[in-house]
Amino acid sequence: MYVLALVTQKGGSGKSTLAVGVAVAAMGNGERVAIVEADAQGTISKWKERRGHPYPRVVRISDPAAIGGALVSLEAEGTWLTVIDTAATNNALAMLAIAKADLCLIPVRPSLADIEAVIPTLIAIRRLNRRFAFVLNQTPPRGCRLSEAATSLNSLGVLALPYVGQRNDHQDALGAGLGVTELAEEGRASEEVRELWRWVLKKLVEGSLDHESHAKTAPC
Ligand SMILES: Nc1ncnc2c1ncn2[C@@H]1O[C@H](COP(=O)(O)OP(=O)(O)OP(=O)(O)O)[C@@H](O)[C@H]1O
Ligand SMILES: [Mg+2]
Repeated sequence: MYVLALVTQKGGSGKSTLAVGVAVAAMGNGERVAIVEADAQGTISKWKERRGHPYPRVVRISDPAAIGGALVSLEAEGTWLTVIDTAATNNALAMLAIAKADLCLIPVRPSLADIEAVIPTLIAIRRLNRRFAFVLNQTPPRGCRLSEAATSLNSLGVLALPYVGQRNDHQDALGAGLGVTELAEEGRASEEVRELWRWVLKKLVEGSLDHESHAKTAPC
């Protein structure tokens, strides 16, 4: 079973949105996918209540000690991918999620404050010797800020592709209990999340993220 953790202490960066988007995109070939919600806010549980569909399975965790057991049970049930959504605030749970992850995905909005805020998460990931990638989220169509953000993140580690644009479909999908790829299959948001999932899957399957860099820049 692959384990993907969405982590960053910066609130509102898109951890839950991308956890849902990627989990549903990953079900595209009929694979068994689960989301472990390690966030008392309950964004994913509330989304699941609106969903009215058994998959992806959602398991809510509040006790850090329960993460390991939850993952063992999910694997025993035949789960292929578990996505862990973490809280901005609960350090102990986030640390355990990082420790259990095959890959940590760090959503970052293209602003200096957001980029600076990834540092504690990055230190924790490095201390635990886990693999990670940034994903630029809620991006504007183009501009200097975007290319500067990409350059900064590339200097800190690997930046996933594509960037995920600021699009209403993400908010509408969360509200409707859907993945963005279910809400508007042919939409740009859907395309980006499907492509992001393909990027993530490749990294999960391949292993090493070393020596990668993406110099994609938007014209200023
Ligand atoms: N690409 C996007 N386009 C438009 N809206 C987005 C996008 N990504 C996230 N959002 C919106 O931004 C808000 C914050 O996103 P989300 O709840 O996923 O962040 P989070 O990192 O999980 O926050 P928290 O740290 O509070 O758990 C939500 O209203 C969500 O719908
Ligand atoms: Mg969240």
